[in-house]
Amino acid sequence: MNWDKDILNKIEFDNISNLEEKKKLGETIAIKVEDGQVIGFGSGSTSYMATIAIADRVKAEGLNIIAIPTSYEIKMLCTYLGIKTASLTECKPDWSFDGADEVNNNKWLIKGRGGAMFKEKLNIANSPITYILIDKTKKVSNLGEKFKVPVECVLESINYVKQELTKLGGRDITLRKAVGKDGPIITENSNVILDVKFENIEEKLEKQIKSIPGVVESGLFIGYNVEILEC
Ligand code: 5RP
Repeated sequence: MNWDKDILNKIEFDNISNLEEKKKLGETIAIKVEDGQVIGFGSGSTSYMATIAIADRVKAEGLNIIAIPTSYEIKMLCTYLGIKTASLTECKPDWSFDGADEVNNNKWLIKGRGGAMFKEKLNIANSPITYILIDKTKKVSNLGEKFKVPVECVLESINYVKQELTKLGGRDITLRKAVGKDGPIITENSNVILDVKFENIEEKLEKQIKSIPGVVESGLFIGYNVEILEC
């Protein structure tokens, strides 16, 4: 017996910015899909549009693919649209796609506006190649010029992590608030997120942040196998 899956459709994105560009990026990535592949699915509105475009091909051509989703949002969308999902413990991606908040000329990224950087980084690290889909607003000359760096950490560690991030040059450190719930955002790993302004992001910063006790992951992505697809 099958469920009526209508409830899953209630997680749709409202007011997607640069919608036409994101639709085109979605179509570009959907063309790359081949029958039998395992594909890492990123999160955010660009990945949302890409998931819809891929689902259209899956349905029209009867393709058999497996998605490794990076958030509940994308997992639920895949389930609603009829794309099978699995986790990294079951299979390894042939390739992945994702969005980004900022990309510089070295292909360094800031991600995590949607709070999904933990699984996004896992997918990227596990994939031979990840296509980063960006519209024109995402390219920057100085990484960090528009977005703070999100740092997911264990709740008990926030005072210590804040102190250590300040030593690394972090400023204006804020605990991310939830929408639709009082208090802080709680991530899919049951942690909280500190958003940190860095004026000058050097190559070693990602590792320095990760080495602070209490930090689970950051939204800095430096030196990964990514190809930038721009619209
Ligand atoms: C979520 C992310 C997203 O990929 C990033 O925020 C880009 O989102 P959008 O495609 O909505 O602009 O890192 O954690």
